[in-house]
Amino acid sequence: MPETVISVTNLLKSYSDITAVDGISFSINRGEVFSLLGPNGAGKTTTVEILEGVRNRTSGDIRVLGEDPEKSRSLIFKLGILPQDFSFIYNSTPKEALDFYKGTLTASSDLNEILEMVELGDKATTPFQKLSGGQKQKLGLALSLVNDPEILFLDEPTSGLDPRARRNIWNVIKTLKEKGKSILLTTHYLEEAELLADRVAIMNKGKIIDSGTPMEIVERHHEDDNLIIRGDGQVENLLGSGGYQFQREGPYIKVGLKSIRDATEIINYLYEKKAKFDDFTLKRESLEDVFVRMVGEIEEDETE
Ligand SMILES: Nc1ncnc2c1ncn2[C@@H]1O[C@H](COP(=O)(O)OP(=O)(O)OP(=O)(O)O)[C@@H](O)[C@H]1O
Ligand SMILES: [Mg+2]
Repeated sequence: MPETVISVTNLLKSYSDITAVDGISFSINRGEVFSLLGPNGAGKTTTVEILEGVRNRTSGDIRVLGEDPEKSRSLIFKLGILPQDFSFIYNSTPKEALDFYKGTLTASSDLNEILEMVELGDKATTPFQKLSGGQKQKLGLALSLVNDPEILFLDEPTSGLDPRARRNIWNVIKTLKEKGKSILLTTHYLEEAELLADRVAIMNKGKIIDSGTPMEIVERHHEDDNLIIRGDGQVENLLGSGGYQFQREGPYIKVGLKSIRDATEIINYLYEKKAKFDDFTLKRESLEDVFVRMVGEIEEDETE
């Protein structure tokens, strides 16, 4: 049986007239990367901060490493926290920030190793205000690692980062996972969740509307698979006379498939008819495709 490191049962959080988190339940196993996904205002940060012990809940039961974060005084030594919109004292350097955290958390980690890991070694003595947005974010990640935590809470760790810096953070997360860390990751980048997360929960308006592995979610909600062919009008004519439904999208022709096996039949048919086409691919919807539809459908239902 996997060991549960976080369990959330009927968690509810209200801010006067707003119910930010509306009775959610989920659990995270040791060594797992679990991702909370959802549009702006869905309640992700509220949930994460309640688990960190930074905010109090209205009701529900939560356990982090067996303890209630609202009451525990020792959990902070076992958790790594990268808050959304991380900031630090403006004229402090990464080295000073790390030294300060190391002292406060009575940690014994190798700070240079951590700085190298997040590719911030050459900025160790640059004041915080002179770091770029991505470098500030990397400092936040470095600080969350100082106490060699069992659980990491990463609230949008790659927001605003360029593609290379984002991949660097992905690699750090993969390394942490290999080391057996449990990670709660929130992100707006669906491909990031698809790549890193063992399981995801999709939140909307304070509720979890579905959860599972990224593959399970795509499997449950995807529409028809498509065969994408790069071809000209001759290919379109042949598809039409063969009775296939298709759509033109720029240089591509998109043919809806009832079953993935139909793709072989279509390609064989086009070869037999000596159709000229450059290439073809088979495309299943991504987590992002189904996410956008799931969240969009709920909003449409409510405005009807
Ligand atoms: N301190 C607060 N006081 C009042 N309302 C708040 C407070 N913090 C958050 N909220 C509200 O709670 C809801 C959920 O906010 P939360 O920050 O948890 O969303 P989120 O999913 O993290 O969004 P984002 O993707 O934009 O970070 C929003 O409607 C927000 O306006
Ligand atoms: Mg947030």
